[in-house]
Amino acid sequence: MRVGSVAVLWVSVWVSVLGACAAAPGSESGLFDWQLPVGFEPPAAVSDNPMNAAKVELGRHLFYDPRLSRTGEQSCGSCHRQELAFSDGRERALGSTGQEHPRNTPTLANVAYMQTLTWANPVLRDLETQALVPLFGERPVELGIAGVVDEVLARLANDPMYPSLFAEAFVELEAPSEALSMRGVTHALSAFQRTLISGRSAYDRHLAGEAEALSPRAQRGLMLFESERLGCSGCHSGQNLSDATVGQAARAENTFHNTGLYDIDGEGSYPEASPGLVAFTDRDTDRGRFRTPTLRNIALTAPYMHDGSIATLDAVLDHYAAGGRSDNAFKSERLRGFELSAEERAEVLAFLGALSDEAFVCDAALSDPWRPRDGACQEDVTLSRPQALP
Ligand code: HEC
Ligand code: HEC
Repeated sequence: MRVGSVAVLWVSVWVSVLGACAAAPGSESGLFDWQLPVGFEPPAAVSDNPMNAAKVELGRHLFYDPRLSRTGEQSCGSCHRQELAFSDGRERALGSTGQEHPRNTPTLANVAYMQTLTWANPVLRDLETQALVPLFGERPVELGIAGVVDEVLARLANDPMYPSLFAEAFVELEAPSEALSMRGVTHALSAFQRTLISGRSAYDRHLAGEAEALSPRAQRGLMLFESERLGCSGCHSGQNLSDATVGQAARAENTFHNTGLYDIDGEGSYPEASPGLVAFTDRDTDRGRFRTPTLRNIALTAPYMHDGSIATLDAVLDHYAAGGRSDNAFKSERLRGFELSAEERAEVLAFLGALSDEAFVCDAALSDPWRPRDGACQEDVTLSRPQALP
């Protein structure tokens, strides 16, 4: 067994404790006003965690509440910062007790649509379960509340607002007093995260048929992105620019790729801290395979890759142009390398820049309710959310 197996085991124990969160498409979505961008479907309904406005609002308060960490110093929002499209700007995340996480904090944009969660875990599929990792994980410690759950729940119960918000969010429970539990916390966090939908970038306006949404330069960049020479859209495919998005690849297993970042032993290994999919499957051919990330808001989420080892988008293009920075035996055959003129490079970068979504990073409905906003966003951005579903 390798590094990640412990984590799988650990998560599966929790899954059985909580009961599986089965996803069934459609059904309850009509009750919740998703206020979706043009061209977006509602995320699949989760049968034991129906959406409602109170639950989303509760989840937003919890997401940004440092009382959810043992030290009281960190919240989900400390690492997933709205102004950085819910990433943190660091190479690798830093937990609440100062431990460095082996991986880079990914964006949470459109996370409701991902087939699997995190950089290289083929079995972690629902947000309700994923939330347990930052809350309880000990290698590394993120929020670090293992052993202090009662204290954390007491902090929430003593707040003037939470008890009624929990009761309102979980009206379906027979005894609403039971709502204020870790299950209630993870379910509310998940409901909030399902509303982190980014689909109002210049690229989206282009997809919706707005003629001048993309500059001519960005349009040429899009063509290069989709060209056989660059081949980016082979993996960064579809509306969410990731084959790991629901509806893209038939098998989640095919959405993990080795992009030739490392080959530390000449046998295709990546550094031990993050070996890739192999940590779960124990198959040599899975060395260095990581889930294709979405490229939405990519200009806001530097540094890049699962370990933050590439600082800029320009350097990411160097990496792909060279066909990867190592000759890893398990590197995807799509990483062939290519030449790019200075103008073409500027075009691809212009296209990637057109994936930034102001409305998303400034949306008051997704912001920290505990702190006044810092003024970088104009208040009226919320209005860009349409008031009624089509
Ligand atoms: C210490 C920083 C940190 C904190 C605090 C944190 N996260 Fe994360 N988050 C990360 C990192 C790093 C990853 C990538 C983990 C991996 O790949 O193993 C991640 C991954 C995720 C993912 C998967 C995203 C995807 O694209 O698949 C979700 C969802 C998520 N976090 C939600 C949360 C929630 C909810 C909380 C609060 C309960 C939280 N995070 C707290 C750093 C953090
Ligand atoms: C074989 C599939 C594949 C192809 C082809 C591909 N990518 Fe990627 N891309 C990935 C994977 C997988 C990662 C994450 C790799 C890692 O961290 O180990 C990634 C990461 C990235 C990142 C960093 C994302 C982040 O959140 O850190 C950028 C930017 C990116 N790719 C852009 C491109 C561009 C531009 C092209 C075309 C030149 C391209 N990719 C071609 C699979 C692919």
